[in-house]
Amino acid sequence: MAVEKVRLRSATMLFPVPVVVVTVGNMEHANLVTVAWTGVVCSNPPMVGIALRPQRHSHKILKEQGDFVVNIPSAEQVKLVDYCGMHSGRRKDKFTATGLTKVPATKVSPPLVEEFPLHLECRVEKSLPLGSHELFIGRVLAVVANREVLDETGHIDPSRVAPLAYALERYYSLGPQVGTFGCSRSDN
Ligand SMILES: Cc1cc2nc3c(=O)[nH]c(=O)nc-3n(C[C@H](O)[C@H](O)[C@H](O)COP(=O)(O)O)c2cc1C
Repeated sequence: MAVEKVRLRSATMLFPVPVVVVTVGNMEHANLVTVAWTGVVCSNPPMVGIALRPQRHSHKILKEQGDFVVNIPSAEQVKLVDYCGMHSGRRKDKFTATGLTKVPATKVSPPLVEEFPLHLECRVEKSLPLGSHELFIGRVLAVVANREVLDETGHIDPSRVAPLAYALERYYSLGPQVGTFGCSRSDN
């Protein structure tokens, strides 16, 4: 019997996606914003995109300042991640409210968030107003990681980062690894 396919209304039904906490501003005046519309857009040079609604306080700061840090949280930090997506920096200092710690970045003005294990320091190369969101494409100038998420060879071990995934307003952790790049080759 054929599988029944149902057409739904057009929407951004692509999941799971990462969910990250972006920092904008500088050490003195920094803001945190949770972003799920994010992804890799180029390998060389390394670039990632974040899409922000123009109403966000972070959007204004990013337009003025031009750098952002993508902080990648662990799944167990879900409440902090959600908090940064539920409150605006226009009304409260989210660093004070959450107790999260600012650490100077190595190449950009916005701080890293100490409690999160992995950070991409980015400089905006291009921005593209698309409609509800503006896409900011950032060149990754530096990657900073907690030593404990590196394996014996100094490479990032995703299972040690244990990142959050986001799908249709739900947060998930990653399940077990099921393969590696090229695992379909016969000699694997
Ligand atoms: C899980 C989650 C994902 C979110 N993803 C985005 C996003 O991709 N782009 C965006 O503009 N807002 C996103 N938001 C909403 C902002 O994080 C939220 O409006 C935040 O309060 C804005 O803070 P700000 O005004 O201090 O910039 C998300 C919120 C949550 C909880």
